[in-house]
Amino acid sequence: MKSSILFTVGIAVSAAQAKPVSKRAITDADILNYALTLEHLEATFYAEGLQNYTRGDFLNAGFADPFYENLMKVASDEKEHVSFLTDALQAAGAPATAACTYSFPATDVESFLALANVLEGVGVSAYLGAAASIESKEYLTDAGSILTVEARHSSYLRAVAGEVPFAQPFDNPLDFDEVYTLASPFIVSCPSGNPTLPVKAFPSLTAVTDGTIMTGSKVFLATGQGFATTGPLHAAFITVTGPIWATVSPAEGGYFVTIPGGIAGQSYVVLSSSNEKVSDETVLAGPAILEIGAKNGRLSTGCTSSSSTTTSGNSPGQSTVPSQSGQALAPSQTIQYGHSATPSASSLFTGAASNVQPTFSLLAFIGVMAFL
Ligand SMILES: *[C@@H]1O[C@H](CO)[C@@H](O)[C@H](O)[C@H]1NC(C)=O
Repeated sequence: MKSSILFTVGIAVSAAQAKPVSKRAITDADILNYALTLEHLEATFYAEGLQNYTRGDFLNAGFADPFYENLMKVASDEKEHVSFLTDALQAAGAPATAACTYSFPATDVESFLALANVLEGVGVSAYLGAAASIESKEYLTDAGSILTVEARHSSYLRAVAGEVPFAQPFDNPLDFDEVYTLASPFIVSCPSGNPTLPVKAFPSLTAVTDGTIMTGSKVFLATGQGFATTGPLHAAFITVTGPIWATVSPAEGGYFVTIPGGIAGQSYVVLSSSNEKVSDETVLAGPAILEIGAKNGRLSTGCTSSSSTTTSGNSPGQSTVPSQSGQALAPSQTIQYGHSATPSASSLFTGAASNVQPTFSLLAFIGVMAFL
């Protein structure tokens, strides 16, 4: 399989034909390096996690065998994805992006697994969103074969966290810039020799949540550095069939958004200047990540039974509020997963949740210039 893929990519790279499907000038080699950028991030994240936390730590946190073995398998899958994409690029004569230096806001088993869970979901959305831009059918199959495995990782981690493993019948595709907006806060610096990718980050958007988010919940979206608008603004949830528009109202430091119907699981909301479409030209901030839907209580991971607890949270329509200072206080916000509190999905994806990079949009733009 590999040789036919490389053959095709070699042609694709040298021929540089017009691509009717892709709406942007991005080559298959770019897309492979984009995927490799994410796989490096994931592989390093799991390698660090397995270094930081022992099997005993997971057992003590209530993750009974065979959870640790499965986690090691997830880590090794991501490592394999890195090797596979690197080999494919190198054999096609395209430079392969190398691993960067990262900073992850994980401090214990719970925050590590919460971030792992969200990262897997973003991975699924990234591969799904890139699919239509891939020219080579062989590459498409390859990317698909990685996508389905990321989806399995995602389902498993969701189930373990007490979330519905497959929350909706269709997954949400994210485009290159949307994914990069979510990934770049974790990237501190990259080797100067890494190939430049045609991606950029939008100003960050952070959902401030303190409980279960349901249809009708009001959620505060804190805007980050670089956000500015004078014109009209609309909130859109990204789905495969197009944006689902949400009612939005301004507040100090951000906007309140009411969760519309028809969205569940790991969801993405952007602020858009248009109320007709969402594109790289219309996105003003985001995406923010939101987990929508009730929790089930943590799935038992082995023979040691872990009793599930009901989660407390907002009932539909109940609102979360910005702090008095108007600043988003993501670190103090939690979502209840089964027994214990973990950081909210979105808060893990912003500098506010950690010491990663509060000046995240600046970092992102520097990052694009310096390392991609
Ligand atoms: C692992 O521990 C180091 C040192 O405390 C920390 O900087 C890093 O963020 C941790 N990584 C993960 C994934 O837990």
